[in-house]
Amino acid sequence: MKKLLLLCLLLSFYVQPIHSLGNVFVVNKDYLRQLKENINPTQVDDVFGYDFPVITNPDDVKIIVNKQVQLSAEYEPNDLVEVDVFKVGATTNKQMRKVAADALKELFEKAKRQGYTLAAISGYRSYSTQNRIYHNYVANHGQSSADRFSARPGHSEHQLGLAMDISVASIGYSLSERLAETPEGFWVRHNAHYFGFIIRYPQGKEPITGYMYEPWHLRYVGVELATQIYLCDCTMEEYYFMVSEKQ
Ligand code: DAL
Ligand code: ZN
Repeated sequence: MKKLLLLCLLLSFYVQPIHSLGNVFVVNKDYLRQLKENINPTQVDDVFGYDFPVITNPDDVKIIVNKQVQLSAEYEPNDLVEVDVFKVGATTNKQMRKVAADALKELFEKAKRQGYTLAAISGYRSYSTQNRIYHNYVANHGQSSADRFSARPGHSEHQLGLAMDISVASIGYSLSERLAETPEGFWVRHNAHYFGFIIRYPQGKEPITGYMYEPWHLRYVGVELATQIYLCDCTMEEYYFMVSEKQ
């Protein structure tokens, strides 16, 4: 059934090459071609500074930021706060926008009450921080590898202040796929939506998101959208395509 749904989605791209949903998401033709041919978008566009659409409403918590849609270098949320949860690692990157920080606190507290201790590892990153991190990864791993797990500057949800990477003690607080196999990781995967979070880069969705499985990367989108995305067992991209098809 899920495969049939995805097939319908992909087929629909042939007949309507451009979709848009207000300012939320604009898909360019190259992106659709890449999806159609099941090509990881990073392998097609290697030109930095490609003319990606710049997001005009970055304060909307439902906004998509991905490899095809970018934030301006100047964008910085104006309501960042330090998250009030258990934190591990560098002290400089534990901020989120207020609405997301409040929701994260509720999520962590609920988890704790049920016996699961979560740790916040990495939250807000400015454009320049992301620039530095990305280029470090490129220097150490090469660009095609780096592009599978690190967003280019302007393309990271961490710049939105709506993302938090989380981990747990049993995996040494690392950002690892092993998180998914821990009881805490399992709990988060099935409960994060009650607090407005999604697992933004699910397993097996690299052809769509452009990123490897990141069970640690939580993105705040609000309870309603998070629940819809959880229920359709899909990515944010697939969900918006589906909605635009129904309009
Ligand atoms: N690891 C995610 C894709 C980021 O760098 O934003
Ligand atoms: Zn992340």
